[in-house]
Amino acid sequence: MSAIANSSTNALATKVPVDLGARSYEIDIEPGLLARAGKIVASHLSRPKTAIITDENVARHHLAALRDILTSSGIDATVIIVAPGEKSKCFQTLANVCEQLLEAGIERQDTIIAFGGGVIGDLAGFAAAILRRGVEFIQIPTSLLAQVDSSVGGKTGIDTPSGKNLIGAFHQPRHVIIDTDLLDTLPERELRAGYAEVAKYGLISDAGFFSWLEGSWAAIARGDAAARVKAVETSCRAKAAIVAADEHEHGARALLNLGHTFGHALEVATGYSDRLLHGEGVSIGMIMAHAFSADLGHCSHDVKDRIAAHFADVGLPVDASEIVGNLPGANEFLQLMYQDKKTVEGRLTFILTRGIGQAFIAKDVPEAEVRKFLGNVTALK
Ligand code: GLY
Repeated sequence: MSAIANSSTNALATKVPVDLGARSYEIDIEPGLLARAGKIVASHLSRPKTAIITDENVARHHLAALRDILTSSGIDATVIIVAPGEKSKCFQTLANVCEQLLEAGIERQDTIIAFGGGVIGDLAGFAAAILRRGVEFIQIPTSLLAQVDSSVGGKTGIDTPSGKNLIGAFHQPRHVIIDTDLLDTLPERELRAGYAEVAKYGLISDAGFFSWLEGSWAAIARGDAAARVKAVETSCRAKAAIVAADEHEHGARALLNLGHTFGHALEVATGYSDRLLHGEGVSIGMIMAHAFSADLGHCSHDVKDRIAAHFADVGLPVDASEIVGNLPGANEFLQLMYQDKKTVEGRLTFILTRGIGQAFIAKDVPEAEVRKFLGNVTALK
């Protein structure tokens, strides 16, 4: 990385390193950073040619700016635009994207730019992982969810009718370029959904951060630049530390799935549709994880009530009954949960908690307890 690419006069500019030996990279976070993206991207290219993978919504708001910025750094960019939404994380779209990358002449030493939210990062990252047996990629996340979670840590992949992210690869980006000003064009519902992943870091291991969020959500929502940078930076630091310790999720990284075993099953049950965004599933899933922890005697129900009160204040769904339309019964729901990637020898892994900031991994929860818990969830009756 050149000194020019690193220089910033913005007092809010910050950097988070992801320490992974030869695969280490930096996360640059700064309001307005897109304007400097050309220099950062150029510092990683072996020739001035790249491909941007994005979706129709991001393209409408920000593609012209990114192209101009790349052009002014002398970089030629092929653009591949996919439909917005989780349904694009599928084999068919992946095949189309790979074919377009090959037709554009993207070679082994070239670099792809993932420019979008979590769907684009996962899809483009997976395309990069498999194209010509692996090319480099840079993440420029545009949604809150992608800025605080999915753009960091190298998880890439697609969904199948059996479940979420079941086909994929670990493939680390070369750089993550986070411009918090891009959140200004994010629909409010998407911002709220991404906020569930921000709160997740407080709930996993940082009670002080969760308390700060309870008082700062309004500032984050109205676009306060310092509050947004602090929320994104704190989340990225927490994630970078976990990923550096356990890149391939043999242990502690599973903590990042707090609420996801329940949440992913809800997403499958709702057909990855507008009925439930990923972050909304995580919101409901985290409340369920805390309720389940309380039922199992690990913490009091007051913990869940406090989180639910905050999430309701944010405007996030906190109960599966808030999802429009029917959900499967508890038995069928349990089968959906068994597709979770953390399942080992037919046993589910849960992320449970002893309190705010005290999450832990539990591999020994008896199925009878799970059945009892799901049987009491009104929306699954
Ligand atoms: N989003 C969870 C992880 O990256 O491990």
